Amino acid sequence: MTATAFQFDDVTFAYRTQRALEGVSLTIRSGERVALLGANGSGKSTLLRMMDALCFPASGTATAFAAPLTEAAFQDDATNYAFRRRVGLVFQNPDVQLFNPTVSDELAFGPLQLGWEKPKVRDAVDTVSARFGIAHLKDRPPHRLSGGEKKRVALASVLITEPDVLLLDEPTAALDPASRANLVGFLAREPGAGRTVVTATHDLDIVEDIADRAIVLAEGRVVADGPVLAVLHDVDLLRRTHLVFEHRHSHGGPPAGSHGHMHSSRQEG
Ligand SMILES: Nc1ncnc2c1ncn2[C@@H]1O[C@H](COP(=O)(O)OP(=O)(O)O)[C@@H](O)[C@H]1O
Ligand SMILES: [Mg+2]
Repeated sequence: MTATAFQFDDVTFAYRTQRALEGVSLTIRSGERVALLGANGSGKSTLLRMMDALCFPASGTATAFAAPLTEAAFQDDATNYAFRRRVGLVFQNPDVQLFNPTVSDELAFGPLQLGWEKPKVRDAVDTVSARFGIAHLKDRPPHRLSGGEKKRVALASVLITEPDVLLLDEPTAALDPASRANLVGFLAREPGAGRTVVTATHDLDIVEDIADRAIVLAEGRVVADGPVLAVLHDVDLLRRTHLVFEHRHSHGGPPAGSHGHMHSSRQEG
């Protein structure tokens, strides 16, 4: 039997009066690659933040690796530390994540926090820079990089410590097509076998490459959960949850003169 990474039972969460999660129940097993799909405001980021123990259920229960995700449990430094070693979140906006003076410092930050010895940190920085094609950027300030470069540095800075679980929030948002293709290549290859990867996105074109299972959220509720292809082929579901929209092109041809096309509602940066 595969171990359970996350178990949510009837979880509710609100920001003051704004409801964000409603009766969410789901299980994510270790090693699964899951896409969290849903329109803007459907609760994807909130769910990822809860999986990263940045917020906690107001009601219902959530566990990570069979241990409770509660505010009380995370008051304990040892619990917090052990959890941070195992779970890494890449934020949607890399400017929130990157704060060190150089890319090298950025990559070394996590390992140093975990108390790795200096030579081991240097080796890890070299290895991860080569893997992510960012070795030439090592002395650059992260805030001066392009959007695609920032995303790669943010991803590398999380993966350098080899967390069991990688959480990605809208990894392709605001990237131009070339940077997006490049990043999706990394996401398809780099997390590595055995790692649990949960990706929030409404970029339907990338889902098949980066996930095997898709969970669809609408207004804070889980409305579908199944194999990626089954979800992607459920046009009614995608339409209802505003993941695709339909518009009509007039091609001027006989006899109908127009037909519907489906378009994914990719966010423009
Ligand atoms: N910091 C916040 N304060 C108040 N409401 C928030 C905050 N963050 C998100 N929300 C609200 O919570 C709901 C879920 O948001 P979010 O999890 O960010 O959705 P998504 O990532 O799918 O766009 C939305 O109604 C959103 O407006
Ligand atoms: Mg979001």
